[in-house]
Amino acid sequence: MNISAKTKICMIIGDPVDHSLSPAMHNEAYKHLHMDGQYVYLGANIKIERLKDVVNAVRALNIRGLTCTIPHKVKVLKYIDEVDKIAHMIGAANTIVNTNGVLKGYNTDWLGVATPLEEITNLKNKNISVIGAGGASRAIVYGMKEKGAKVTIYNRTIESARRLAHEFDSQTHPIQDYRRILESDIVINTTSVGMGDLEGQSPIPESALRKGQIVFDIVYTPYETELLKMAKRKGAYMIHGMEMLLYQGTAQFELYTGIKAPVEVMRKTLISALSL
Ligand code: ATR
Repeated sequence: MNISAKTKICMIIGDPVDHSLSPAMHNEAYKHLHMDGQYVYLGANIKIERLKDVVNAVRALNIRGLTCTIPHKVKVLKYIDEVDKIAHMIGAANTIVNTNGVLKGYNTDWLGVATPLEEITNLKNKNISVIGAGGASRAIVYGMKEKGAKVTIYNRTIESARRLAHEFDSQTHPIQDYRRILESDIVINTTSVGMGDLEGQSPIPESALRKGQIVFDIVYTPYETELLKMAKRKGAYMIHGMEMLLYQGTAQFELYTGIKAPVEVMRKTLISALSL
C-alpha cells in the first residue's frame, strides 16, 4: 500500500452506496498507472439531509473529487461554487472537482452514453428513441441533442416526456406508439424496467426492434436485460449498461487526475465485479 499523507482523496456519496463499483474501478486504474500513492477512491453512504455538511467537509479536508449518485446529483448544485455549462443545462452534477478550494460541478452521465455510441456510429442526424423521462433520460436527451441527433422521447407518463421534449427541442409519442420506435436508428432505455423487481420485463415489445438498429440499455444488473435479449434475437447491435457505467467513470477519472483513463483496465474491473 502506497497511501501516505500526500495521497489525494476522491469519493462517491449516495444513499445507498454499498453496491457502487466506482471505488473498485478507480482504484484499479490508479494501481495500473502506479498512481495508487497519489490517489485513493472511497465511498460513503450519506443521507440527503447531510449533503451540505458533506460538501463543507470536502472543502475542509481538501478532498479532490466527489462523485454524487442518487439522491445527491441535483441538490449538490446548491452547495458548490461553480457549475459547468453542461451540468447546468442538465440540472444535475455527478462529478465535483476541488481545485484549490473551489468546487466545480460537472456531468459525465451523458458521456457514458455518447462515448460508446460514437465508437460505432456518427450520431449526427440519427433518429434516436429514448425510453423514459426521468433524471437519467434528461442527461441522455441533452447529450444526444448536443451530438446533433433527432430525439423522440417515449414515457409511461406522457406529461413528463412532453416537458422534457419541450426543453430539449425533441419529439414525444406515447409509449403505446411503439411502431415508430421500429423506424429509429438507435433505441436507448433510460428507465429502471428490467432491473430489481422489474427484472425479466422490457419497457417496449420485441416488435419495436429490428435488425440493423442499435439498442442501448442503461440497466447493468442483470448484465443482459430482457430488452437486450430481444435485441439479440432480432439481430440488432447491443450496448450493455455496463458501458455507460464505464464511460461516465473514465470521464470522471480524467477530470479528477488530468490523466487519460485506462479504459480496458476499468472495463475488466467492472466485468469481474459483475462476475461476468
Ligand atoms: P432516474 O433518475 O434513474 O432516471 P427517475 O427520475 O425516477 O429515475 O425516472 C424513472 C423513469 O423510469 C421514468 O421515466 C419512469 O416513468 P414515469 O415518468 O411514468 O414514472 C420510468 N419507469 C419506472 N418504472 C416504470 C415502469 N414500471 N414502467 C414504465 N416506466 C417506468
